[in-house]
Amino acid sequence: MKEQLELIKAQAIAALDTADTPAALEELRVRYLGKKGELTAVLKMMGKLSAEERPVMGQIANSVRADIENMLEQRKSAVHAAALDAKLAAEKIDVTIPGNTVAMGHEHPMNKVLQEIKDIFVGMGYQIVDGPEVELAAYNFTRLNIEEGHPSRDRSDTFYFTDDDKVLLRTQTSPMQVRVMENAKPPICILAPGRVYRKDEADATHSPMFHQIEGLVVDENITMGDLKGALITVMRRIYGQDAQMRFRPHHFPFTEPSCEMDMQCHKCHGTGEIDGQVCSTCHGEGWIELLGAGMVHPDVLKGCGIDPEKYSGFAFGMGLERMAMGRMRINDLRLIFDNVVRFLNQF
Ligand code: PHE
Repeated sequence: MKEQLELIKAQAIAALDTADTPAALEELRVRYLGKKGELTAVLKMMGKLSAEERPVMGQIANSVRADIENMLEQRKSAVHAAALDAKLAAEKIDVTIPGNTVAMGHEHPMNKVLQEIKDIFVGMGYQIVDGPEVELAAYNFTRLNIEEGHPSRDRSDTFYFTDDDKVLLRTQTSPMQVRVMENAKPPICILAPGRVYRKDEADATHSPMFHQIEGLVVDENITMGDLKGALITVMRRIYGQDAQMRFRPHHFPFTEPSCEMDMQCHKCHGTGEIDGQVCSTCHGEGWIELLGAGMVHPDVLKGCGIDPEKYSGFAFGMGLERMAMGRMRINDLRLIFDNVVRFLNQF
C-alpha cells in the first residue's frame, strides 16, 4: 500500500509538471484528489489494515495528499503567470507611436474680412443687425423709392417666390434700412451684413449669391461730410493709411445725392497698366468700385415715420466679396465660393 501511495504521488507530480493550462490542472486535481480519485480509492482500503499499520499509512497518505496539493497550487500560479505574460506580450501598446493627426480648419478668408470690417465699425459705435433673406418686395423695392416697372424689379434679375412678385430673395441689404428705421428712433447707427441674390451668371466678378454690408446713420445734422469721413476712415483701416479713395456722383432711388466710392487699384496704382499691358485687376480703369452710398432720401425717411426736416442720414452698401478680394489679393470671385482647401489654406 505504501508503494501504491508513492506511485500515485510520482505519477501525479510528473503529470502536473507538464500540464500547462487551467483546464488540464483541474482535470488532474479531479483525477488524483477528487472523491472518485485515485488517492481516495487507496484510502478506502485503510479499513483492512491492522491497528498498528493504520496510523503509519494514514500519515503517509496525508503527506502524499499535501505534496500533491502543494504542487497543484504551484502549477496553478505558474500557469496563471504564463497566461498573463502571453496576454501582455500579445496586447502590447507602444504609447510613443505618433497619433493620427486631425486636420484643423480655419476661418474662411471672406469671414475673416467680414469680422475685421465689423470690428472696425463696432469700434466706431455701430450696432450689428440681421434681417431676412426672404424679403417682401415692399421692403426690397417700394419703400426704397423703387417703383413698379423699375428695371431692377425685372423677373430676369430677381428671384421671386410668388406670381404676384410680392415675395423674393432680397437683391440688396438696403431693405434693412427700412426695417431698422420703422422700428427705431434716431440716433440710428447700424451695420447689416448678409447674403443677397441676383439672377447673374457666375463669372470672375459675378455670382447669383453674394454678400453686402449695409450701413445706416440717422440723426440731426448728418451730412455728406460724415459719410465721406466714416468711409475713408474705415477703408484706410482695412487697406492701409496710404490707400487712395475717390467719390463719383451716381444715382440710387433711395438716396439723394448718391455716389459710388472707388479705391485706387493696388496693383497698377491708378495707372491702369502694368509693363505696357492693361492691368488685369482693374481692367485698365485704375480704380476699383467698392460701394454705393448717399444721403437717405427724404421720402424714405418720411415713409418710416422719421421727420426729414429734423433728421438726415447717410447709407452705404458695400460688396463683401469685393472687399475681401482687394484685401486678400484674390483675382477671381469664384475662388471664394469653390471651397477648394488648397486655395483656402493660403489665408
Ligand atoms: N443697395 C445698393 C446696391 O446694391 C447700394 C447702396 C446702399 C446705395 C445704400 C446707396 C445706399 O447697389
